[in-house]
Amino acid sequence: MKKNLLMWDETLFRDPEVFEIDYVPEQFNYRESQMRELAFQIQPGLRGGRPLNTICRGLPGTGKTTSVRKLFSEIEETTKKLVPIHINCQIDNTKFAIFSQIYRRLSGHLPPASGTSFKQVFDAIARLLMKEEIVLLIALDDANYLLYENEMNRVLYSLLRSHEAYPGTRIGVIVIISDMDVDLLQAVDARVSSVFRPSEIYFPPYSGEEIREIVKERVMQGLYPGCLPEEMFALLVEQTQKSGDLRVGIDLLKRAALNTERRAGRSIEREDICRAYTISKYLHLSFSVKTLNDEERAVLRALSVHSMKETEMNAGEVYKAVKESMAIGYTRYYEIIRKFDAMRLINLQYRDGKGRTRVISLRYDPAKIIEYLG
Ligand SMILES: Nc1ncnc2c1ncn2[C@@H]1O[C@H](COP(=O)(O)OP(=O)(O)OP(=O)(O)O)[C@@H](O)[C@H]1O
Ligand SMILES: [Mg+2]
Repeated sequence: MKKNLLMWDETLFRDPEVFEIDYVPEQFNYRESQMRELAFQIQPGLRGGRPLNTICRGLPGTGKTTSVRKLFSEIEETTKKLVPIHINCQIDNTKFAIFSQIYRRLSGHLPPASGTSFKQVFDAIARLLMKEEIVLLIALDDANYLLYENEMNRVLYSLLRSHEAYPGTRIGVIVIISDMDVDLLQAVDARVSSVFRPSEIYFPPYSGEEIREIVKERVMQGLYPGCLPEEMFALLVEQTQKSGDLRVGIDLLKRAALNTERRAGRSIEREDICRAYTISKYLHLSFSVKTLNDEERAVLRALSVHSMKETEMNAGEVYKAVKESMAIGYTRYYEIIRKFDAMRLINLQYRDGKGRTRVISLRYDPAKIIEYLG
């Protein structure tokens, strides 16, 4: 074997960090008006009041998370009295998990894993808020993941009515959501909506020209000059536009450059991009599948197998097929289906016919889903 297999230092990357999934770009254009509106909503929190509640809505890759993260770091640099906490609901998707995160961020450590009740965690949070005279600003990112099993309602209820159980506490909420069809106010009951009253900030998709400028910026920061010929840059922008998600474009750039390095090339060629695209375009699918538990994976697998026969499936009929391959009750099955819909893995539609039938269609090629399920 050749020595120094890992020490290959002929790299195209000037700064690989720039292509990481959690990288917050220095240069962040085209979202000025959304950032300004968001700052306006938060303002009261800087003066000890409760920040106004906000929904940030827009398709994937439209800069919602980045906008909020940037504002949050600005708040952290400005004041200790307003504490912004960003929650990734893909990971923390129950009321208990979310409040444990809040407690961790305020105190520096997680509550004991077992034997702690929700009330104990909330008590501890409220004590901290009151002792330090802190106002909280909670961003529930990817809140689609709270939209099943009524979790959204429970989380918002506790956050927004905290002053009733703990007078003096002030908490504002930013809900970030990438599903355009969800009516959040319908997902919560009257006790929540009467205190929620959010303003909505819309994040439109980037135009072709904006995508081009953003990708160009990344190339200049992350790669050495001359690695990406003009024609290949155009191809990359075109693929990004086709996917409609800027994140796919950034991932594509990274993978294409890695492909070039692998063949010891000096500049990115068409084949490097095309090979990369076959992976990058499934970025969303691959991330989503990783967050599922065993039962959910089994249902998704059964769904995918079934949909090879029929592309539009009746939810009730699919249940019969799913039940043949695993033990699962209808209620749980249907909860999982609703979750897949919220995650944008499937489309769930009502169709008027004999009664209301529910029709499921996959958003991905079933063979691909099965491949990512492993
Ligand atoms: N205006 C911009 N300038 C530079 N980079 C951007 C801009 N908008 C988004 N990005 C980049 O695109 C990627 C996706 O952005 P972000 O994570 O903020 O999107 P999002 O709206 O939260 O998407 P999702 O709904 O899928 O979570 C990130 O890597 C981010 O750095
Ligand atoms: Mg996001």
